[in-house]
Amino acid sequence: MDQKRILLIVGGGIAAYKTLELTRLLRKAGVAVRPILTRAGAEFVTALTLSALAEDKVYSELFSLTDQAEMGHIELSRSADLVVVAPATADLMAKAANGLAGDLASTTLLATDKPVLMAPAMNVRMWLHPATQRNLRTLQADGVSFVGPDDGPMACGEQGPGRMAEPAAIFEAIMASLESGGARPLEGKRAIVTAGPTLEAIDPVRMLTNRSSGKQGYAIAGALAALGAKVTLVSGPTALPAPFGVTRVDVESAGQMLAACEAALPADIAVCVAAVADWRPAEIGDKKIKKGSGAPPAIVLVENPDILAVLSKDRRRPGLVIGFAAETNDLEDNAQAKLARKGCDWIVANDVSVAGTMGGDDNKVVLVTPRGIERWERMAKGEVAQKLAARIAKEFP
Ligand code: CTP
Repeated sequence: MDQKRILLIVGGGIAAYKTLELTRLLRKAGVAVRPILTRAGAEFVTALTLSALAEDKVYSELFSLTDQAEMGHIELSRSADLVVVAPATADLMAKAANGLAGDLASTTLLATDKPVLMAPAMNVRMWLHPATQRNLRTLQADGVSFVGPDDGPMACGEQGPGRMAEPAAIFEAIMASLESGGARPLEGKRAIVTAGPTLEAIDPVRMLTNRSSGKQGYAIAGALAALGAKVTLVSGPTALPAPFGVTRVDVESAGQMLAACEAALPADIAVCVAAVADWRPAEIGDKKIKKGSGAPPAIVLVENPDILAVLSKDRRRPGLVIGFAAETNDLEDNAQAKLARKGCDWIVANDVSVAGTMGGDDNKVVLVTPRGIERWERMAKGEVAQKLAARIAKEFP
């Protein structure tokens, strides 16, 4: 394979420091990196650091005789296989969405004929502002791909979506994009992703639920959407925002989750990540159960429908049905048995006895397919999602 080249536009945000690590990862993987550092970006990282890590010259000025003598800005905009903007600030997104070209970075984005991938990073209110959301939709409609932003504590002290995706996740998105030639290999495909816990009511105030955070399922929904799929995310109660480009259907119980999945059929892909409660109370009290004076009440449980198994057997069965397996022991044997029992095509198994997996940001998984077992390294849930989405895309050449 020819050496792959990316043009890396570094915008002005604190997350620019993470772009240095991204540059290192890309160089380690043999990808050539040509950086453009905006004036605001240079307030956060120096051209010298960026140049040393990229092992290339850093371009900064639109009207620079020296730069123009080496490579004109039009040529620069086309000198790579992919243009990456990290961090993509609100300002850079707004400029690109509106076709402004007042500096080197925005001119490059307007002049390029190459695919563009943005990793947004900004304060949560700036991200959620209708103007930024409008720009996001415009850019998506223009064919720009996105990775992140993540949800979490931010440098400005606030909490919420806006944090730039981790370098490893951006790296995975870049590699997937380079591999697919920047195309959106899942364009036109429909995917259903279930995520989060289910909530089974006991009475109007009590419920049975579990510790699933929804992070892995949301990341997968986002990664599939980034590759062009039309994704319906059927989610139990979580604290997460819907990833971009994803249609989210909120449900509580397993019964509601199944109904929402069936309503989203037909689909090409189903990924069941939700931690569906296996049982629900046989009866839901319409009034709060009182303590009374007798013995504690017995809660009689009945089995919930198995959404993964139902989708695997449906007459409108998606072409690729993937289940997850949360195991605490005999991971691979249990996963293989589950693959057969549920009738799905692949199982992604994870060991939930490892502290920090449930609710945490990392995951170590094993992919079980009829072709064999792949043991993936421990990585961020975002990376697992990118890698799985890339694998799924390979099934739809
Ligand atoms: N699943 C589902 N509906 C259910 C239970 C599970 O769709 N009622 C799906 C999950 O989303 C996951 C897979 O089935 O993709 C496996 O879930 P897991 O809890 O590991 O397996 P169980 O079927 O519950 O088996 P066990 O608890 O015996 O391990």
